[in-house]
Amino acid sequence: MAFFEVIHVANQQEAATIVQDKLEKDLKANTLNVLGLATGSTMIPIYKKLVESSLDFSEVTAFNLDEYIGLAPTNVNSYAYFMQEHLFAHKPFKETNIPNGKAHDLDAECARYENQLNDHPLDIQFLGVGENGHIAFNEPGTSFDSVTHVAQLTDSTLGVNSQYFDDEEEIPNTAFTMGIASIMNAKKIILLAFGEKKRPAIEALLGDTITEEWPITVLKNHPHVTVITDIK
Ligand code: GLP
Repeated sequence: MAFFEVIHVANQQEAATIVQDKLEKDLKANTLNVLGLATGSTMIPIYKKLVESSLDFSEVTAFNLDEYIGLAPTNVNSYAYFMQEHLFAHKPFKETNIPNGKAHDLDAECARYENQLNDHPLDIQFLGVGENGHIAFNEPGTSFDSVTHVAQLTDSTLGVNSQYFDDEEEIPNTAFTMGIASIMNAKKIILLAFGEKKRPAIEALLGDTITEEWPITVLKNHPHVTVITDIK
């Protein structure tokens, strides 16, 4: 029997406490060695809570979902920069992994990252969701069999992300992303979604249909999912 729980929270602080408790339990039980991390505004209060906690990640290897192609870790818009700022600079991990946005050979970088993932099976993967139901940068229409690959970002995603860039010209329109199959290999998934803009995606997840047009719906095929949301 699959485990699929939906936890309704009043706000992101409450969600952060629940996430902290879950991680603490798994760290104590020695079942959290590899943690899959996500970026986006959804994750900021979660990481803040983890930074303030006494949780020890020094024996945990981290893998991020995705990275913009063309952005160096020193670029404030890169996900490598985001992770340093919100988590890694404050909490030591055993090792952290993010696709190299400056890699020249894109196919080789995808293969390298997927091999690393195969060698370090994810115990828990955090996920946010895009307004169009994308997970990581797996946009609608991405095959459920996909592994780490180069994704072309949709206009919808570019529009949402443009708020973070000073100059629209600077927004990368491609990214490295774990594939849907890479994500589905995680033993447990914790999906976080807040705010009305995410309602269509959460309704798709809680509805009956599983379709590549709504990447998030693949989670209905996963054996262990926790959804934490303020959407009722
Ligand atoms: C980006 C990331 C996703 C994230 C999404 C939602 O597209 N690649 O991993 O889930 O943004 O971001 P936010 O949490 O800011 O709504």
